[in-house]
Amino acid sequence: MNDRFLRALAREPVDRTPVWIMRQAGRYLPEYRATRARAGSFVTLCKTPELACEVTLQPLARYPLDAAILFSDILTIPDAMGLGLSVEEGVGPRLAKPVRTRADIEKLGVPDPETDLRYVMDAVRLIRRELHDKAPLIGFAGSPWTLACYMIEGEGSSSFARAKALALDDAATMHKLLDVVARSVAAYLAAQASAGVQALMVFDTWGGLLAPDMFGEFSLRYLAQIAQSLQIHNVAKSIPLILFSKGANAHLEVLADTGCAALGLDWTIALGDARTRVGHRVALQGNLDPAVLHASPDAIRREAKRALDSFGPHPGHVFNLGHGITPDVKPESLGVLIEAVQDLSRRA
Ligand code: CP3
Repeated sequence: MNDRFLRALAREPVDRTPVWIMRQAGRYLPEYRATRARAGSFVTLCKTPELACEVTLQPLARYPLDAAILFSDILTIPDAMGLGLSVEEGVGPRLAKPVRTRADIEKLGVPDPETDLRYVMDAVRLIRRELHDKAPLIGFAGSPWTLACYMIEGEGSSSFARAKALALDDAATMHKLLDVVARSVAAYLAAQASAGVQALMVFDTWGGLLAPDMFGEFSLRYLAQIAQSLQIHNVAKSIPLILFSKGANAHLEVLADTGCAALGLDWTIALGDARTRVGHRVALQGNLDPAVLHASPDAIRREAKRALDSFGPHPGHVFNLGHGITPDVKPESLGVLIEAVQDLSRRA
């Protein structure tokens, strides 16, 4: 078994820096687009374990990646709560029944992972079988704040002003929503661990939209609650948790104190600076600007070296982008990046 990724998360020495890529199974790959067309829709692709397994494995067939990530979406939880998920080409995700009032929120219950989200657990079990320990499998969920943003807005937004307005006007109702979502996320992650994932990641994609006090109250608090819950249920002992709070570099120290194993970083901070700030509490994952993949091979190699040099010769680095790879990247460019990371980080 290739355990470089798990060793780096445990801050143990490795022969070279492990690398995987957020959205590594996605539209930049022609084989992904073909399977998605066969499925008919993104949601059907997620809900059909055989197809979700197929696309999870596609990037590993092309590149020497050190981890696989379950093919799914963060919005499976709102969908299982009855909000009705669809993803339209060129439009993005949409929830048919957003929650806007206290009454809407009071109706929400915690989905049972093995029944309401059975297709995810079946996909995990199938992927583990098909991976043959070629690489560890990462499971994931959205953060309560990020899921609440979509649940209130019903779709993507650059500001999520409706969600912020609810937090400001009626904090008690917002906390009621965040609490039921946090309990759902914790149960979902624990079930993925039981089904076979070997690491967990929480995507707090919209944490960085919050002013500092609001970040503490509406995002961090629930990330910590999830990390604690996984520890209480003994999941965290064997399954490392990665927290990725995008745009929240002001809060790295408190994020590192939640009990997670690693922090995901976006590209607006130098890896070396982040490492100095969190010390040896956690491993770091990231953080190349995804736009670098539009540049020439020379620039891609130079920027990979810059990131590796910034982190330095310490244990505890997982190479990744600072956010997901975009659909317009040429697959060859990702190949250049992965090869560069592997060559440049090889220890003598
Ligand atoms: O990383 C992987 O390869 C695993 C798969 C994965 C997807 N979504 C597949 C997907 C993961 C980990 C996610 C998480 C996710 N989903 C996040 C957090 C990570 C981030 O990017 O910040 C968020 C915010 C979502 C919500 C979501 N789902 C959005 C914003 C979109 C639209 C993306 C777009 O560019 O149109 C989706 C749909 C989605 N999820 C796609 C994929 C590959 C594209 C859908 C398609 O095939 O048409």
